[in-house]
Amino acid sequence: MFGFLGGYCAGQAAAALRRARALRRAGRDSDNRRIDGRRIVHSASDAILSIGENAVILFANPAAAHMFATSVAAMQGSTLARYIQAPVRNARTPLDYFPAGGGRAGRRATDYAVTGIRANGHLFPIEGSISVVEQNGRRVCNVILRDVSERHLVQQKLARSHDQLRQLSSALQTIREEERTHIARELHDDLGQLLASLRMDLTLLQQNNQLPEPSRPLIEGMEANLLTAIASLRRIATNLRPRALDEGGLYFALQGLRAEFEERHGIACLLFADEAGLRLDDATSTAIFRIVQEALTNIARHAEATEVVLNLDRIDGELLVTIRDNGRGIRAEDMEKVESLGLVGMRERVWALHGQIAISADEPSGTRIDIALPLDGHARPDAPSG
Ligand SMILES: Nc1ncnc2c1ncn2[C@@H]1O[C@H](COP(=O)(O)OP(=O)(O)O)[C@@H](O)[C@H]1O
Ligand SMILES: [Mg+2]
Repeated sequence: MFGFLGGYCAGQAAAALRRARALRRAGRDSDNRRIDGRRIVHSASDAILSIGENAVILFANPAAAHMFATSVAAMQGSTLARYIQAPVRNARTPLDYFPAGGGRAGRRATDYAVTGIRANGHLFPIEGSISVVEQNGRRVCNVILRDVSERHLVQQKLARSHDQLRQLSSALQTIREEERTHIARELHDDLGQLLASLRMDLTLLQQNNQLPEPSRPLIEGMEANLLTAIASLRRIATNLRPRALDEGGLYFALQGLRAEFEERHGIACLLFADEAGLRLDDATSTAIFRIVQEALTNIARHAEATEVVLNLDRIDGELLVTIRDNGRGIRAEDMEKVESLGLVGMRERVWALHGQIAISADEPSGTRIDIALPLDGHARPDAPSG
């Protein structure tokens, strides 16, 4: 009996001991976990703050102190207003300082973007996330903060360099256009005049009855060559820059382009536009002309189309340009080709005029380019408005 009891007690004691050991182990584990957690927060490279409901900093890690150029001791117990610019007046709770989403599109509701204040008063951009936990019946906000000044600086530099590239490309386009205009004019005025006067001389020569007979076919051959030279010269000059463009006659310039395209590539091309509506200033006429020219070149090179339709309409102070073909259709990956600059150039020209452009595959087949250009100030004074 005693033995049994003793045995029982011994068994119970052993179980109690096991339980106690297990408990101790669990306690140690949780201690370890706590220590690990503390260590992580302590050594984190991101700044971490715990903030009480009254926007007083309860805890700051060394990274936070470093970020605000102060000490942990100075931060803890201090009000958040010393370190974070409140986006609203009378900010009271931590959530007033870190508004959901930070006003930035595409961010989670727990992400924010705010302005930090360093101990020396310098302001700097901060991004991070916030979480609220319930602790002893009180709400505590834990925020992770990241100093994004460096990134902002890089972004600004990138934006500036992008801007400069745009300006450079636009300046180069203008210079190129001016050179083309200049050469076209020289060809037309100088060389053109010379050839025309040569032709007149030849005509006079042909009228001369005293010419020796063998020179007649020679002179006729010369005249034929001269006519070819004049036609070539006109074609080259027009290719460089159609005269119509300089006279605000975009409609006639496009008609020329259309006719030449049909003749050269055997692809039907229809132009729906109103002549008076296309009397635009030089920059706009040139941009539209060059865009249509590039689009037609692309159609000839890539589309395998049999028909092209060009629509230019003035609606509500905007010029709507649509270029459609019935070819194989442009693919998304075509528009990403690094070495292709035609579409890039089109977009740049449209953006330079504050317009919008969309390039897409068309239904049921083919490619369409839709452009909307605001016309305020771009119509020529003698042109009808609207
Ligand atoms: N009308 C079109 N139909 C089908 N594919 C097109 C059309 N226009 C452009 N593309 C495709 O888009 C690509 C990019 O065009 P672009 O930037 O003008 O460069 P490039 O003409 O020098 O190749 C072309 O290589 C072609 O694959
Ligand atoms: Mg091209």
